[in-house]
Amino acid sequence: MCGIVGYTGNRGAAPILLDSLKKLEYRGYDSAGLALIEDHEIKIAKKRGHIADLEKDLPDFKGRAGIGHTRWATHGKPTDANAHPFSDCGKKFALVHNGIIENYMDLKEDLVKEGHEFTSDTDTEVLVHLVEKYSDGDFESAVKKMLSVIKGSYAFVVLSAEGEIIAARKESPLIVGIGNDENYVASDVPALLKETNKVIYLRNGEYAVVTPHDVRVMGFDGSEVEKEVTTITWDVKDAEKSGFEHFMLKEIFETPTAVHNTILGRISDMDQFGKFTFDSIKLVACGTSYHAALVGKYVFEDLAMIPASCEMSSEYRYSSPSMERPLSILISQSGETADTLAAATEAKRRGCRTLAISNYMGSTLTREVDEVLYTRAGLEIGVAATKTFTTQLVAIYLLAVKLGMMKHTLEHGRAGKFREDIRFMPRWVENVLDTAPRIREIARSIAGSRDMFFIGRNINYPVALEGALKMKEISYIHAEGYPSGELKHGPLALITKETPVIAIAIRDHTYEKVLGNVGEVAARDSPVIGVGYEDDRDLKKYVDEVLYVPRVPNIFSPVPISVALQLLAYYVAKERDCEIDKPRHLAKSVTVE
Ligand code: M6R
Repeated sequence: MCGIVGYTGNRGAAPILLDSLKKLEYRGYDSAGLALIEDHEIKIAKKRGHIADLEKDLPDFKGRAGIGHTRWATHGKPTDANAHPFSDCGKKFALVHNGIIENYMDLKEDLVKEGHEFTSDTDTEVLVHLVEKYSDGDFESAVKKMLSVIKGSYAFVVLSAEGEIIAARKESPLIVGIGNDENYVASDVPALLKETNKVIYLRNGEYAVVTPHDVRVMGFDGSEVEKEVTTITWDVKDAEKSGFEHFMLKEIFETPTAVHNTILGRISDMDQFGKFTFDSIKLVACGTSYHAALVGKYVFEDLAMIPASCEMSSEYRYSSPSMERPLSILISQSGETADTLAAATEAKRRGCRTLAISNYMGSTLTREVDEVLYTRAGLEIGVAATKTFTTQLVAIYLLAVKLGMMKHTLEHGRAGKFREDIRFMPRWVENVLDTAPRIREIARSIAGSRDMFFIGRNINYPVALEGALKMKEISYIHAEGYPSGELKHGPLALITKETPVIAIAIRDHTYEKVLGNVGEVAARDSPVIGVGYEDDRDLKKYVDEVLYVPRVPNIFSPVPISVALQLLAYYVAKERDCEIDKPRHLAKSVTVE
């Protein structure tokens, strides 16, 4: 939520900041702005809308130090006035922020009484006025005083008219990029890939004083912190569309490679996960990652015979702790989702061992837990999670085999068979991608709908939920996922001939029952699209259209089916001319609770 960047060096800062901001637009895109130092004065340009709108009317800035922001609104509507950066009354400082300042009302009241003039409805603006209030010529000490009075979660970058930059973080991500006689600040790695692959991850309670030749990291308590410089292996091409019309489509087509990388070297070697002692598993996550967790419950129970339960991160911390100490698996693509970070802290507080499944090396979650299983999906820029979801599933299968063997609930022969099957996953996904033209045809036939239902049973119930989430978030069609047996308990009332139902019907122990449920909706004239195995000759007798996926062992069916449903959502959204990579009101990484 919100992307922030900073630059100080010998080149013109504006083009560098704009370019970096564009790579962060997935974090928020309702307004954008820059602040630069021009002749020892702060100059600000900011605007409601996308970065391209800001760029169109940008003054010819020449300054060599500056900061920038792309916003996802929390406090205050998306307007020009509420866009960042903000400046103090004397125009000596400019500041951009990601997060929420919880005590801003009280602080603002005091500042107004002291004569400070505010120009926005945001919580952020108090920060820059506080720096002004505490400033007595020592920029760093003014920022430190400001830090001591604010409450909330934040990453901010503040620029002084002298060209100094200070970047601080508490619960929102922030990195410093290291260049040659120039240095950078950003919310996330993609912003910097074009400029440098050397970064320092700031931790909670740290700030960095950044000049062109030096980066000094300090704790909020005033102690200097030795930081490691990490070399990023992602390439600048990862942050580009490489000929695809949208990042989402590119990323779906990258799934076979991503899955291959998740599996690489892990089929028989995951020893670090063998040391846990636990009786049950609790999976905790948000959004798409929560759907991976729900699939995980079936996988841990059916494949590894380990009792498992799931909870949404935002609910978990308010639930009553039980006497059990389950192994707590936190799933988060970004590793920065505030709700999931809070859940990880709570799981530890409850005395549980914690394991993260994440795609982001060095992310906050990965540093807070006892063990990490990286999905290695590569950079994902489209707001809709695609290849990262599929690789979360693959990571869960790998982990289930390992933990099942460790606990002797999965016998050797079966484990060997599962491991063999897992090797074929990249191929299964490729087979689904080959059917993209057919999926596109089906998408055309339903793209005009207002409502849709996705139904499935057992392990494919969460896949139906994920299919519906993908559809609604990028096409804006109201879509609901349901266990197919539940429709008759209420939602059937909404079914009309204009309400397509996407029914996942694979040849498992639920097949006959799902077909029964398909009959219930077909009898109400709903157009039904079945999703089934390619060798299933019967399914087409029950439904209007079939979307075929390769036959795989049933427990692994979520992998090909979810890729097919991602393509379906993509082509429906394309047909409706939606802004696929940046759906309205959303941001890729939700760093506020
Ligand atoms: O980074 P995380 O996996 O923690 O993100 C959780 C959700 O915000 C995320 O999965 C969201 O639901 C997706 N953008 C949906 O496609």
